Amino acid sequence: MCGIIGYIGPRNATSVILNGLRRLEYRGYDSAGIAILGAHGIHVTRAVGKLSNLELRMKNEENDSQFSILNSSFSVGIGHTRWATHGGVTEHNAHPHLNDAGTVAVIQNGIIENFVELKHELQAEGVRFRSETDTEVIPHLVDLYMKAGMPFVRAAFAAIARLQGSNAVVMMSAQEPDKLIATRLGNAGGIVIGINPDEAFVASDIPGILDYTRNVIFLEDGEVAIAQAGQVGVYRLDGAPVSKQRHVIAWDPVSAEKGEYRHFMQKEIFEQARAVTDTLRGRVNFETGEVTLESLALTDTGTGRHGDKGITQSPGRPVTLSRIATVACGTSKHAGLIGKFLIERIARIPVEVDYGSEYRYRDPIVEPGMAVLGITQSGETADTLAAMSAGKERGARLWAIVNAIGSQAERMAEGVIHMRAGPEIGVCSTKTFLTSIVDQYLLACALAQHANVQTFERSNVDSFSLARDLAHLPGLISQTLKPDPIYEALANRFHDRRHFLFLGRGINYPIALEGALKLKEISYIHAEGYPAGEMKHGPIALIDERMPVVCIAVQDGVYEKMISQIEQVKARGGIVIAIATEGDDAIGRKADYVINVPAAPELLTPALTAIPMQRLAYEMAVRLGCDVDQPRNLAKSVTVE
Ligand code: AGP
Repeated sequence: MCGIIGYIGPRNATSVILNGLRRLEYRGYDSAGIAILGAHGIHVTRAVGKLSNLELRMKNEENDSQFSILNSSFSVGIGHTRWATHGGVTEHNAHPHLNDAGTVAVIQNGIIENFVELKHELQAEGVRFRSETDTEVIPHLVDLYMKAGMPFVRAAFAAIARLQGSNAVVMMSAQEPDKLIATRLGNAGGIVIGINPDEAFVASDIPGILDYTRNVIFLEDGEVAIAQAGQVGVYRLDGAPVSKQRHVIAWDPVSAEKGEYRHFMQKEIFEQARAVTDTLRGRVNFETGEVTLESLALTDTGTGRHGDKGITQSPGRPVTLSRIATVACGTSKHAGLIGKFLIERIARIPVEVDYGSEYRYRDPIVEPGMAVLGITQSGETADTLAAMSAGKERGARLWAIVNAIGSQAERMAEGVIHMRAGPEIGVCSTKTFLTSIVDQYLLACALAQHANVQTFERSNVDSFSLARDLAHLPGLISQTLKPDPIYEALANRFHDRRHFLFLGRGINYPIALEGALKLKEISYIHAEGYPAGEMKHGPIALIDERMPVVCIAVQDGVYEKMISQIEQVKARGGIVIAIATEGDDAIGRKADYVINVPAAPELLTPALTAIPMQRLAYEMAVRLGCDVDQPRNLAKSVTVE
């Protein structure tokens, strides 16, 4: 989970940046680096592993005359803790990255979706890349524009405009050393700018700068800041200035952690592009589409019956995976239902999904070649743990998808895939839902790709190209998180209703279940989620002109079927709120309200359609004055049966 710090002002930039990076250490990283403007230009130091490795290296360089700071009244630099997305954990892949002349330094969080195209374009211009990262395209692009005659700031704007995807970027240049340029594109990384009378700070997370300032502004999607000592200008990409509200961060740790958001749930909804970026880090080679899951060994290491982590067997024998039994509760179970669709479609392995609370009481059939997969954000849900134990006792391999590191589920399981969602404080699961869907998408691709895993039936789906699609997911999530007045309008219009119905089909049927759970959990409005095709077998009797029906009707394989369900609801006087693909004008003529999500490959749509469910429930709960983060009678970890 990369961290970003930048500083410009009279203090020693090196110590401000190192201190800030230390404050962000808890987020986890694999390497770190810093760029400081010295007497002889930009000096970069990078090291793999802990920050102390970087500090040690810098100490050794202290006597080097190259490293003397520019002058005693002014200091500028940027620093980064990296968690790999593109390219391995090596010193040359650590940030900051430079142009050939070493005059522009760049750090970045996120995934540059079009980096392969940009890299080829730059290579055609004769640029030689020193790293395998996507980040390195940025300093070279800036350089290209500077060589064409643009001053640094204009070149930076031009380069930023070329980047696709959800990213946070900070850069500095020896040509205009009194400026730091920072931008936020989408939601994969936030950018907060701290301002004091004679200095400015840039950070990915508030705790990185709280030791120095409480006066901050937050960049929104598509904004670029030019930070100078004591002043900051914010612009749109076309150069139009933006007037920004300054926030004063309160001293108590909870307010500091919530930052610009009113509730943790709201913060966690808007963090999802970043959380998913972290989930993907280092697990997908976006050039080849190969998926690697670090702690779910799919190789035949011969370490015993199941190996120490994963589905290994004795040497030389391929592993046969007869089926997977997913056990989970609440939102995690809904994620499991989506995983069933993904794993069966991509890897052709049959999957059954059970409530954790039911599995062990139905005397499940467990045969040796199968895996039990527990999904649990807390890793402590008693029912899920009991179901996992039941599977293990009967001889299944035991895997877990968990968010909480060191939790019981993780300790019990032979193979673990972490959600990497970061801390989720709101009781209502949001970012852990999205990240557990992505984990299962990755698992499905890994199983399909691994030559040593014999699956139930040969898959004819190209799991490599499906894995490459994931590069677009953070950007698509960001688009789904764009400000949209419809949520507030719907909350104002329908907060007095006592019942809601949610309908979906195919891979989006579990999203209907999740939409209903979100609404009842935090706004205390009764809601039911149904597979749309089942409506005629009972729920249709509920529909009248007082009943809002949320219909997930994106352009997927069951779109036409959903349209006919919408018509049936309308024919009975129901109020249709459709979740539809952007640009689908036809649905606007049928539904009463339309919430748009961007067009996406079908198997990625649940990670987008889940977001309107969360936003709608959130606005409803706020409108009703409910305790959003701590809804009544509920707990974040349910450790009792
Ligand atoms: C959903 O918003 C709830 N927080 C709840 O349904 C939750 O998903 C369930 O209790 C399971 O929790 P777990 O993922 O920690 O096992």
